Amino acid sequence: MKSFTPFLCLLVFSLSIQFESSLGSKRTDVAYVTLLYGDEFLLGVRVLGKSIRDTGSNKDMVVLVSDGVSDFANNLLQADGWIVEKISLLENPNQVRPKRFWGVYTKLKIFNMTDYKKVVYLDADTIVVKNVEELFKCGKFCANLKHSERLNSGVMVLEPSEALFNDMMSKVKTLPSYTGGDQGFLNSYYAGFPNAHVFEPNMTPEMLNARPVPEMERLSTLYNADVGLYMLANKWMVDEKELRVIHYTLGPLKPWDWWTSWLVKPVDVWQNVREQLEESLPGTGGGQNPNDDFLLKFLLLLPFCAILFCCYRSFLKNQGYFGSFCRSSLCDHIRHLYYRIKSGGPLAYASISTSTINSSHQLSNGAQYKVPTYLGGISVSVCLMVALVSLGLALLIVPRQVTPWTGLFLTYEWTFTIFFILFGGYLHLISEWGKIMAHRAASSLAHPGSSDDDSGKRHQRPMSSCDAATWFYGLGMAFLAVAAPSLPYLFGATALFLRLGLMVVGGIILASFMTYASEHLAIRSFLRGLEEWDIAKRLTMQRFTTEHHTRWKKSAGETIGI
Ligand SMILES: *[C@@H]1O[C@H](CO)[C@@H](O)[C@H](O)[C@H]1NC(C)=O
Repeated sequence: MKSFTPFLCLLVFSLSIQFESSLGSKRTDVAYVTLLYGDEFLLGVRVLGKSIRDTGSNKDMVVLVSDGVSDFANNLLQADGWIVEKISLLENPNQVRPKRFWGVYTKLKIFNMTDYKKVVYLDADTIVVKNVEELFKCGKFCANLKHSERLNSGVMVLEPSEALFNDMMSKVKTLPSYTGGDQGFLNSYYAGFPNAHVFEPNMTPEMLNARPVPEMERLSTLYNADVGLYMLANKWMVDEKELRVIHYTLGPLKPWDWWTSWLVKPVDVWQNVREQLEESLPGTGGGQNPNDDFLLKFLLLLPFCAILFCCYRSFLKNQGYFGSFCRSSLCDHIRHLYYRIKSGGPLAYASISTSTINSSHQLSNGAQYKVPTYLGGISVSVCLMVALVSLGLALLIVPRQVTPWTGLFLTYEWTFTIFFILFGGYLHLISEWGKIMAHRAASSLAHPGSSDDDSGKRHQRPMSSCDAATWFYGLGMAFLAVAAPSLPYLFGATALFLRLGLMVVGGIILASFMTYASEHLAIRSFLRGLEEWDIAKRLTMQRFTTEHHTRWKKSAGETIGI
């Protein structure tokens, strides 16, 4: 029994540790706190937590979660080392306010966290880049001034107290809020804040004890450096080595949206921490939601399948008629050369060179048909519109929180696929239209077929629907579409406005090429429609002539007696 007791003690001890950590109860008397209203900000909180631990802090990290947060998110955060506390939302008393501000007054609940002597509150869109433990030395209330002498509630240090919280709650309905949210309310509640002294982090405990505790103190910009500050000068307007907390305040642009990383340089810091997120919850693949994983693979493969399906359909459709589909341009050229050598003469072959594109077409029966002049204009607008729609749809389809490279790849994949299908469909329609027009032009002539000049000698090559010119324009557009947005990175531009400017320049070049390409492609499709009809007509005629010829030969041979 004697030897059994220590073992029992150990068991109870280890059990109690496990119990404590699984409950996530308080371990230190000060804590970092953040809020999570929905799964959308989950990644933000995870990265924030990782960044705090990376600075070597072992203080409690508490996340207050509302009802909208999934169990998956709660488990993941707990596995990351967060203490998860469920709270109910505080209703926003303001009638006039942005819709997304419904629950923002919930932030005031951090003033009621009386389990802790002091808390450092950080928004989910902040990241700690250097140890900020000195913030716990702050007096009763510390925040940062921003935007025309107003305090920003993204980073705050406070002393929770039930009396303070109740006082706030009693004033919530009467004090005005310039934003219609919690930040406006806090500005009214701490009315004298712009006149507060700046928090001095290097004060010794003796100096701290010697002075009266100030009601409020201002934090230096280093503790709440918003990215807007970087944008203006394209560098941190404070000493970058001293930077403590970066706040990604870019309106609707959040660091977890994949495209921000391609526009805003400081998002790289955030993405670097995100890449290091561990698989803290076993079986989730680096904390990835299994559903997200599946969705990503699905999105990656679907366009390929769609394109393959389209090619297969075209193949089936064209097999009987042309006997071939989508020959490579090389193959076409070789065949072209072969015919040229064999026939030793000029050939009815539409070359890539756009200068040879005629706006009129001579039908075999002598009917002249002109391409409608408005076809070019219509095609240009259709092409540009289709491009915008494809890009818009692709951006809607691609999940926002994928990594920057995945996002970029998926967006290109989907834009190209949707563009290929939509614009390809349009060109097909134009070519059908050409056929109808050829038919009409021919039937309006009284005696078709009589002016058949040299159809027997000419090797009319049926044009496949993927000829050299289509490849040239398609690849040209694809190349420019890739090159245009990468201009800023080629030039090493880091400023947002320079990046955007260069992208616009690239976009203009792309748009001009598309104007040019779409016009020619449409005219070619139209002519192809005319020709296809023509060739089909000529082939029937040829067959007729050949049959006639054979019959004549046969009878001639019989006469001679062979
Ligand atoms: C504030 O905290 C106290 C004690 O921790 C708790 O009883 C009370 O419900 C809290 N108030 C709100 C509105 O959450």
